[in-house]
Amino acid sequence: MFDNVEELVEEIKKASVQTQEELEAYRLRFISNKGVLPALFQKIKDVPGDRKKEFGQAINSVKLLAQERFKTFISDLDGNSGAPDTTSDLTLPAEDPIGSIHPISATKNTIIDIFKRIGFNVEDGPEIENDWHNFTALNFPPDHPAREMQDTFFIEKDPDILLRTHTSNVQIRLMNKQKPPIRSIMPGRVFRNEAISARAHCIFHQVEGLFVDENVSFKDLKATLFHFSKEMFGKETKIRFRPSYFPFTEPSAEIDVSCFICGGKGCNICKYTGWVEIAGAGMVDPNVLSNCDIDPEIYTGFAFGMGIERITMLKYQIKDLRLFTENDIRFLEQFKTIPW
Ligand code: PHE
Repeated sequence: MFDNVEELVEEIKKASVQTQEELEAYRLRFISNKGVLPALFQKIKDVPGDRKKEFGQAINSVKLLAQERFKTFISDLDGNSGAPDTTSDLTLPAEDPIGSIHPISATKNTIIDIFKRIGFNVEDGPEIENDWHNFTALNFPPDHPAREMQDTFFIEKDPDILLRTHTSNVQIRLMNKQKPPIRSIMPGRVFRNEAISARAHCIFHQVEGLFVDENVSFKDLKATLFHFSKEMFGKETKIRFRPSYFPFTEPSAEIDVSCFICGGKGCNICKYTGWVEIAGAGMVDPNVLSNCDIDPEIYTGFAFGMGIERITMLKYQIKDLRLFTENDIRFLEQFKTIPW
C-alpha cells in the first residue's frame, strides 16, 4: 500500500504537460474526484490501526504535491511562469492621479459658502414632485399660461407627478415644516422639456434662496443680492433690477450684474450691453405664504433663484452648455486649479 504512494509521487514528479489535452489527462488522474487519490483515501479503512495516521498523512502530501504541480502546469501553459513582472516598477508614484472638481459643483459650493457666511442654511427637496409643490402652492392657477413657461416632464397625470421644473418646490416644503424666521438656500437639479442645444438643456441646476420673517422688505433683497454679487464676481460689481413676472413673487425682478469680463464697457459675453443677467427674484406673494399657513399680515419674505450653469458659463466663458454633461476629460481637466 505504501509502495503505491511512492509510485504515485514518482509519477507526479516526472509528469510533464505541454498541451491542454495533457493537462486534462493529468487533471483526471490526480485532481478530479474520480482520479486515483480518492480511491487511495478509501483504502485508509483497510490499513491496520497503528499505521492509519501515517498512511493518511502520506496520501495528503501526494494530494498537495499533485495540486501544486497542476497550478504550475496551468501557468506554464498560459505563458506565465509565475515569476514576478519586472517590466513595471510598482514603487513609482502613479501618473497624475488627482481628479478635479466639476465646474458646476465648484460654482455651487462657492454660492453656498457666500450665503452661509450671512446666515443662510442649506435645504434639500425631492426632484420628483407633485403639482401642488411645483405649481399650485406657488400661486400658479390651474391652466394659467405661466405653467407653459416651464415645459414640464410629466411622470403621471391626474394627479400630476412631474420632474420639478425649479427648486421653488423646496420653498413650499420648507415653509410647511418650519415657521419664520426662515433663511435658507436650496441648490438642486431641475428639469425642463427643452431641446438640447448650446444654450439650453433639459437638465440643469439652480440655487434658490428664501428669507421670511417680520419686516423683510425689498431693501433686504437688494442688499443681499448686492452682497452676493460682489463676493461672487468681484468688489467693483454693480447690480440692477429690471421689472419682471413670476407667479410666486410680487413685485418680481430680473437681476443683472455689471459684466465682470469687461467691467461694464461692453464685450461679446455681455453682448456689448455691459450687463449680464444672473437671477430672478421678488417679494414672496402673500398667497404663497397663506398656502403654507404663514400669516402674510405678520410675515413678509423675499425669494431669488439663479441658474448654476449660466453663472459658470459666464465666469469661465464657456460657450456650450453641453460640455457640462459630456464628461470630456479635455474639458474637465481645465478646472484642475479650482480649489475644492
Ligand atoms: N423659480 C424661478 C425660475 O425657475 C426663479 C425664481 C425663484 C424667481 C425665486 C423668483 C424667485 O424661473
